[in-house]
Amino acid sequence: MQMPREYKSERRSGAASLDAGSFFAEVSPPSLSPEQAGRIHAAPDRRSDLYSLGICIYELLTGVSPFQDSDSSTMSHLQCTRVPSPPDSVNPDIPPILSKIILKLLEKSAAGRYQSCSGLRNDLFQCLNDCKVLGKTSEFLLGLHEVSSIFRIPETLFGRFPEQEALHQVCDAVSAGAAEFVLLRGRAGIGKTALAQALGKYAEVKKGCFLSGPCAQFQSGIPYLPIIRALKELVRQILTENDASIQRWKREILTAIDPNGRILIDFIPEIKGIIGEQPPVPELPPEQTFNRFRLVFRSFLKACTVCRSPIILFLDNVEWADPDSIRLIADLPADSSLHGLLLVCSEDEGGMCPRQAESMLDVWDNSGKKSHCISLSPLTRDDIRRLLSETLFCKPEQSAALAQVCLEKTLGIPLCIREFLCALHRDGLLFFDTIRMIWQWKMEAIEKREVLNDLLGLYSAKMRNLPEASQRILKMMAFQDGSADLPADHEPAEDVQKRLQQLADQGLLVQSDQALVPAGAYGFVHELARQAAFSLIAEDELAALHHASARRLEQSARPQDGSGRLFEIAGHLNAGGTGMLGPFRVVSNYNNKLIV
Ligand SMILES: Nc1ncnc2c1ncn2[C@@H]1O[C@H](COP(=O)(O)OP(=O)(O)OP(=O)(O)O)[C@@H](O)[C@H]1O
Ligand SMILES: [Mg+2]
Repeated sequence: MQMPREYKSERRSGAASLDAGSFFAEVSPPSLSPEQAGRIHAAPDRRSDLYSLGICIYELLTGVSPFQDSDSSTMSHLQCTRVPSPPDSVNPDIPPILSKIILKLLEKSAAGRYQSCSGLRNDLFQCLNDCKVLGKTSEFLLGLHEVSSIFRIPETLFGRFPEQEALHQVCDAVSAGAAEFVLLRGRAGIGKTALAQALGKYAEVKKGCFLSGPCAQFQSGIPYLPIIRALKELVRQILTENDASIQRWKREILTAIDPNGRILIDFIPEIKGIIGEQPPVPELPPEQTFNRFRLVFRSFLKACTVCRSPIILFLDNVEWADPDSIRLIADLPADSSLHGLLLVCSEDEGGMCPRQAESMLDVWDNSGKKSHCISLSPLTRDDIRRLLSETLFCKPEQSAALAQVCLEKTLGIPLCIREFLCALHRDGLLFFDTIRMIWQWKMEAIEKREVLNDLLGLYSAKMRNLPEASQRILKMMAFQDGSADLPADHEPAEDVQKRLQQLADQGLLVQSDQALVPAGAYGFVHELARQAAFSLIAEDELAALHHASARRLEQSARPQDGSGRLFEIAGHLNAGGTGMLGPFRVVSNYNNKLIV
């Protein structure tokens, strides 16, 4: 096989004169995999390297790049949408089977590529062997030895290409200096959080940052909690940067908020690591305290967009945000000097207060800044077919009938599809045939399965059938926002560990690599599972838990904990009611005091 002449001469004349920096500046972006380019929601892994290797081999053997456009954004669009011309159509010297191997390396979705170097090596050896034995290459099934027998649904987003494209355009506009608002709407489990997280990856590729502030139903009494969570995330990111960069952040932040640095420290104690100790601020009446905080918050955000842009502030499940956070963000569009900020809110359209975010759309529209509302629809049969083919290592047409049943049983809601497939696998209706080395399923039995589109009901039913001790663990975790810290009188740690593992096996919990919980810990598989566990807690049990938590927090409080701790104690005392404490009420105010 001949290597193209132009390619050889180009390498001889060009490559030696390029230094490493300019070489990668020129060569890297087109060889980035779609997930590395932030176009596909999936974490890069070794399969991303196999994609880049595919690009190198393609260029080496054809002398041209599989995607060509002088404009970098069109280029990355092509990378995600266009199937490259088969290498053997560009250079007929390339054997057809080698051409297929290269195209397999260049699959958009990582699950469609070789899963490991050894899979690629096996196929290349097979080509070599055929050449030695037969004198030419022959056709064979690629990647035959690497069908995974481990059941794993890929993290890729299926069927969200138009929404992702729309979000990328908004993100590009914000990178160029705009300030915009996006509302993601849809029913529970439809994929709002996953879509926002995918946007976060895109923003990170653009050198921006994505700050997520989840709002939870049981914490809507803690002022500014989602915003504090999001800003803590930013501070954590800044603190991982080098000294020069931290100094730059410090300068920008202090210039913007001086002399009110102490207010930020009160809400985000970790920020002291960036701006240092700050002098106390005078006490003001509540309304003026709010106004001062509003100004500090805005100035802080603006300072951040100077250092890094775009900044995406994502308030997840905004229907549960506390009124102070809503007031704070509703005020943002009024500031004409705000640039480089994208506010994204997700809202469950079947939730309790579905008009919360809609009124924010009006506020942004009235201020002359752009706002967008993206409603997410269920996945189609074709989307599910692709999801199945990547999970079960089969061709999409082989999974068409199963996709149809999945659609009927789950109404195309991604979370329900995942739960449905996991349940099929758990119950042995979806299994790996170790003799034929393929995934198989029992269609008749699957067709008889119940419809699965009420997840809260499903999780509740599962939990009610559990032993008392397991229910107690779940209740504590639901109450403690996912933490499995149990009271001292609970069963021994190793028994708890066993129960946690059983709960994970039953699809109620997941381990930290799959959930946003600390390493090694367990978290709920979904917010709805947490809600189901919370609803198991009886009224008097709940009051006792709140009072115990208030007491524990109060005993462990340190002066440097900031006002968040104070509000948390107040929240527990209020939620616990007066029944066990006597006739008094606790109110939190803006001066970080508890009025009892
Ligand atoms: N387009 C998609 N393709 C495949 N899987 C998806 C897709 N969208 C979401 N998922 C998966 O479905 C599950 C539920 O998604 P997600 O949590 O984003 O839903 P949600 O709309 O935020 O739900 P909630 O309203 O309860 O917060 C996740 O495991 C996610 O990875
Ligand atoms: Mg969500």
